[in-house]
Amino acid sequence: MARVIGGLGTSHVPAIGGAIARHAQHEPYWSPFFDGFVPVCDWLKSERPDIVVIFYNDHGLNFFLDKMPTFAIGAAAEYRNQDEGWGLATSAPFLGDARLSWHLIEALVAQEFDIATCQDMLVDHAVTIPMSLMWGSELPRIRIVPIAINTVQHPLPSPARCLRLGQAVGRALADYEEDARIVIVGSGGLSHQLDGARAGYINKTFDLYCMQQLVDDPATLTEYSSLDLVELAGTQGVELLNWIAMRGALTGEVRKIHSNYHVPISNTATGILLLENPSDGL
Ligand SMILES: [Fe+2]
Repeated sequence: MARVIGGLGTSHVPAIGGAIARHAQHEPYWSPFFDGFVPVCDWLKSERPDIVVIFYNDHGLNFFLDKMPTFAIGAAAEYRNQDEGWGLATSAPFLGDARLSWHLIEALVAQEFDIATCQDMLVDHAVTIPMSLMWGSELPRIRIVPIAINTVQHPLPSPARCLRLGQAVGRALADYEEDARIVIVGSGGLSHQLDGARAGYINKTFDLYCMQQLVDDPATLTEYSSLDLVELAGTQGVELLNWIAMRGALTGEVRKIHSNYHVPISNTATGILLLENPSDGL
């Protein structure tokens, strides 16, 4: 049977991709962030996952404001990246796992999540940067299932809804018969706001509180609305919804393996949170 071995929350700022391309990981500006990723890479090397299920938000590459699903899942054999205008090199396509995708789609619809299904889906920096951070250019034959959450155009789904989405994904993965090791990724945040009167806004206290609650008691985060998250974490900090969904897909007690928090990178508070999932399942 499939087993969710852990979850990772990470920021996905495009500038991280630029730093990787320039081999700037050890520069003083970047090392507090990249050094924080070393334990994640070590854990991945020892745990050797087969599949990544990644909750993320699209930034206009695959969905635009004219057609914006609240939740969308990839069901493709591969996922291509394209130029988003950030000056980043286009990533090689990622392998998909259409069979697992359709298992998740069937299970999610049965659990009353009416999710858009995408048999052709471009993935942007919110997928490519976490994958680069986890495996660099030596990407093994990892398959991915991308699940996009709308954090861009209001109305946004609530933290409670995103936690329940993650829980539904976790239940579906526990029922999947393939003997696969799965890592869940939540890509986004942490607090940041790119424009408007509060451009540059960062809320370290709230970020650290969320990172702790994601370990101990994620249900407390469902007391907030998505607009509360915008107020507390910034207009783009609401990408925290992806971390909440990731945490929902983990079962039972979780163990924190590693965390790192650094401000700022490119006007963003960057966070890393690696959680190990228990082996006893649901
Ligand atoms: Fe983003």
